[in-house]
Amino acid sequence: PRVVFSGIQPTGIPHLGNLLGALLNWVKLQRDAAPEDQLIYSIVGWHALTLPQDPKALSAARSDMLAVLLAVGLDPKRSIIFHQDENLHHAELAWILNCITPMGKLKRMTTWKSRLAASRNARDDSEVDESLLNAGLFTYPVLQAADILAYRATHVPVGEDQQQHIELCRDLAESFNRAYKGKRPLFPLPQHVITSSCRVLSLKDPSSKMSKSSPDLNSRILLTDTTAQVRSKIRGAVTDSTLGITYDPAARPGAANLLSILAACTGEEVTTLAERYADKGHGQLKADVAEAVEELIKGPRAEFERLRGEKQYLTSVAKEGAEKAGQLSEVTIREVRARIGLV
Ligand code: TYM
Repeated sequence: PRVVFSGIQPTGIPHLGNLLGALLNWVKLQRDAAPEDQLIYSIVGWHALTLPQDPKALSAARSDMLAVLLAVGLDPKRSIIFHQDENLHHAELAWILNCITPMGKLKRMTTWKSRLAASRNARDDSEVDESLLNAGLFTYPVLQAADILAYRATHVPVGEDQQQHIELCRDLAESFNRAYKGKRPLFPLPQHVITSSCRVLSLKDPSSKMSKSSPDLNSRILLTDTTAQVRSKIRGAVTDSTLGITYDPAARPGAANLLSILAACTGEEVTTLAERYADKGHGQLKADVAEAVEELIKGPRAEFERLRGEKQYLTSVAKEGAEKAGQLSEVTIREVRARIGLV
């Protein structure tokens, strides 16, 4: 049987990239899973702390994210849905993994390198302003590995941007297995699952991914955007001035992004779509993308607005999820403690 694990940070309302790259795949996996498959989905509050968070806003975002997971269709009777910060085993395992993680590996993480680049002194490029960097940012991928390995997960559905983190997780699982041999290796090597292989790009700068951190609100579509906002953001998406539509991600990233969003929303092949739009204009493509996105989000959006006020229900789902998660990770963590000699 498969053990599926994934996580999302409670750093605000998810955008179209989170939905197409991750959350809707979680739901698809839930729908297609064999009865004996275990599905575990987590809201990773500790990861959010690597960047400054306002406590009130974090608390609201944390509860909202649970409402989102339910609104998109995750079923707490079928999947374990819980807050990472309510299962302390993750933190324990993260520490243990930290102690077998070579610094060099973490220094090579692209997420770390981009943080480092962002904190370089504006005047003197060679100097890093270390006051802008915390140790949590550096060991972030180790906590992510602990999330996954605590359940001995075999499959991890995440977007493309997380691939390097999954590779590190595999490396750590292998190192642990090698260093602490038992009757059989403790950790399976988890696989990266991309079900729709969709990397959604910024609507304003198609050289970068759609992200929660971009200051330009028009660069991303949020689950809570109104019909009018969806239309106007897509109408304002950066494309090019070439006549007709072709799918050419390198030369025409803006149009390619719209085509792949449309493909992901409708389930069609991007190349089929490109042929159909060959003689059409960007205006037509944008109108159709806006309609498809609206169609995709309108159900979950309404359900989210209903659920986010149901605080008692959300608390009870979280409590039950944390209990189930804790029971599973307990089995792993006992074996870890025994193998490393902390008994
Ligand atoms: P996070 O919260 O940044 O993003 C959640 C999920 O959304 C995907 N994603 C995208 N997919 C396609 N296009 C985009 N523009 C886009 N932006 C984001 C991400 O790939 C991710 O799947 N480190 C993780 C959270 C995490 C985790 C884990 C994931 C912590 N522990 C254990 C899996 C397993 C993160 O920051 O995701």
